[in-house]
Amino acid sequence: MVQLTLPKNSQVKKGKVWPKPEGVDAKSLRAFKVYRFDPDSGENPHWDTYYVDTAKCGPMVLDALFYIKNEIDTTLAFRRSCREGICGSCAMNIGGRNTIACTSGIDEVKGTVTIAPLPHQPVIKDLIPDLTNFYAQLQSIQPFLKTDSPTPQREWKQSPEEREELDGLYECILCASCSTACPSYWWNSDKYLGPAALLQAYRWIADSRDEATGERLDDLEDPFKLYRCHTIMNCAQVCPKGLNPAKAIGKIKELMVERQA
Ligand code: SF4
Ligand code: FES
Repeated sequence: MVQLTLPKNSQVKKGKVWPKPEGVDAKSLRAFKVYRFDPDSGENPHWDTYYVDTAKCGPMVLDALFYIKNEIDTTLAFRRSCREGICGSCAMNIGGRNTIACTSGIDEVKGTVTIAPLPHQPVIKDLIPDLTNFYAQLQSIQPFLKTDSPTPQREWKQSPEEREELDGLYECILCASCSTACPSYWWNSDKYLGPAALLQAYRWIADSRDEATGERLDDLEDPFKLYRCHTIMNCAQVCPKGLNPAKAIGKIKELMVERQA
């Protein structure tokens, strides 16, 4: 029989409301509702509420998470590295939208700031998703230069125009915000490669130095890997780097048609 309700152990419960810090100006106090899950506890996931004195932390959501971890609750787990919008590791769902926490201003969210892990991925702990499948899919598109010609003595050359073809592609930081915002990816993430991996696939197809275009297209000629993109466009709406994976996917589809003509 089809199960239409969530299993009991996956329902997100109300959690703890942590006390407000004392003597804080009400104007600088912000509430953060944060998804908590500890697989070792045997308990359901829950929402904890924390109050952050924003006068005592930096302006970004990642700064508030550091405040919570350092000043209120050391058990909170989240990923981060560069704090500069470069590594992609702090991607999470903030105020209902996938993005990266280190470049998201606390002021950009009205009222209580709700923070959850990237959706539709297994959760390792709190705000840390398990991206094993995401990285395996990236690996599957072979994200590196493939050539048959003898390696030149110096660099593989590219004209400025050829280099420009990579604009809007090379800037991807692999944060997974786009793929985990895509309904097609939610339903078929085992078979559909998703916007991030496909943008990377096109990044190498579009590279004038790469000599494996035919092989790359052959590998994507599949009812699920590529063609589950239905141009819903959530990917372009959420990308924190302003990229458009749906456009890159469209370019791959065009090349598929052109080579059959
Ligand atoms: S395309 Fe944008 S949202 Fe998708 S992985 Fe790259 S940087 Fe992140
Ligand atoms: S910490 Fe590196 S992108 Fe946010």
